[in-house]
Amino acid sequence: MEKAKISDKLYVLGRREKTGGGTLNIGRYYALDGSLGSHVYIDALKPHVVLICGKRGYGKSYTMGTFIEEIASLEEEARENIGIVVIDTLGIFWTLSQPNKRQVNLIKKWGMDAKNFEIKIFSSEENVNEYRNKDIDAEELLIKTSELNQHHWAQLFNLAPTDYVAAAIGRAVNRAREKKEDFDIEDIIEFLEGDDRLRDEIKVVAENLLYMAKEWKIFDKNGTSIYDIVKGGRITILDISPFAEELKIVIVAIISRKIFEERVKERRKYEEMLMEGSNKRKEEIPITWLAIDEAHVFLPEEECLTKDVLIKQWMRQGRQPGVALILATQRPSSLDAEVLSHSDIIICHRLTAQEDIDALNKVRPTYMQGEIGDAIKRIGTEKGVALILDDTSEAVHIIKIRPRLSWHGGEEPSAMIKND
Ligand SMILES: Nc1ncnc2c1ncn2[C@@H]1O[C@H](COP(=O)(O)OP(=O)(O)OP(=O)(O)O)[C@@H](O)[C@H]1O
Ligand SMILES: [Mg+2]
Repeated sequence: MEKAKISDKLYVLGRREKTGGGTLNIGRYYALDGSLGSHVYIDALKPHVVLICGKRGYGKSYTMGTFIEEIASLEEEARENIGIVVIDTLGIFWTLSQPNKRQVNLIKKWGMDAKNFEIKIFSSEENVNEYRNKDIDAEELLIKTSELNQHHWAQLFNLAPTDYVAAAIGRAVNRAREKKEDFDIEDIIEFLEGDDRLRDEIKVVAENLLYMAKEWKIFDKNGTSIYDIVKGGRITILDISPFAEELKIVIVAIISRKIFEERVKERRKYEEMLMEGSNKRKEEIPITWLAIDEAHVFLPEEECLTKDVLIKQWMRQGRQPGVALILATQRPSSLDAEVLSHSDIIICHRLTAQEDIDALNKVRPTYMQGEIGDAIKRIGTEKGVALILDDTSEAVHIIKIRPRLSWHGGEEPSAMIKND
């Protein structure tokens, strides 16, 4: 696909300079009569927090897919320094590996061609077999048991940290950590059994829970290496759809913390390299864009383990280490308020629930004249049309997101099969 040229008059959203490479061509400006104007570009070189919101079925996951395709289509120099990790809670993003045959005419109208993207999936054993049957590169996702602290175990079993059973598991985990560098659930059970300060009935419950966790076949002495998960120039999909919500939260908390910590280390190495006067980048974990659909699961108003990582680290400190987020949610009002205030690019598809409009109004930037609700009314009911608020250029636009080149997997099941 030939990239449209950037005109000097245009802003690159999320960037102060008007031109340069490393941009995502996510769509075109949309006029109220439905006609399409110039191309819209978003900066991909700096870390951003992009929030996509809108009511059910108006294009959030689709837009997220377009973003992912665009990052994967960057010029090689930029692309190889960026890794994309998709947190797929519904198991819908594997279709990036298939061309979009459903909207061929629409894609043609935009002067593009359908295509498939190379992806790597990590998921449960059962899903991996299914993906491999479809010839998709897939591997089992394994979490290193020693990465879980007492809070993770309490979250997994829905226990308050002050609960006796949670405390018993916490003691055994600490013991295992003191005695061994790497350990598995069997080791924790052994330390639990050997703990003579615990009553038998507590041991029995704790042990039962740990045996249950073993059955999930996700915890492992070594775990999947973070270097296999994040790779420059690659789309990695973590299909966590088979797992229970508590487990999803623990997986995302552990993996996103690991990425953040590794990026902080990389950043230090990069700084040292600049001091030595070398300009050869040798990053192991590249700048990472983490895409999270159904983001309210991980960033709710209530207490949640993932918020400690995603808000306190990724959002508050992410600029330095170079980690970026693309979040999508149906319910901006149910997100932690800090998420809205950290989002520097907000893409809002049709939205009608008053509480969601109110939530956006609360963080409405000063450069925006009038109420968000009025602006959203102007975008009408067309799918893929959105209001975009860009903090960097301090501008608000109405845009139409370009069609997906690869198959969009989030469509609602319908009794009638339809193509465009
Ligand atoms: N930019 C677009 N161009 C063409 N069609 C689009 C576009 N955006 C969305 N659509 C159409 O709208 C449908 C619904 O989009 P999508 O699955 O992204 O909705 P959603 O907002 O994620 O919904 P949910 O809240 O149920 O997850 C898509 O299957 C596609 O047919
Ligand atoms: Mg969706």
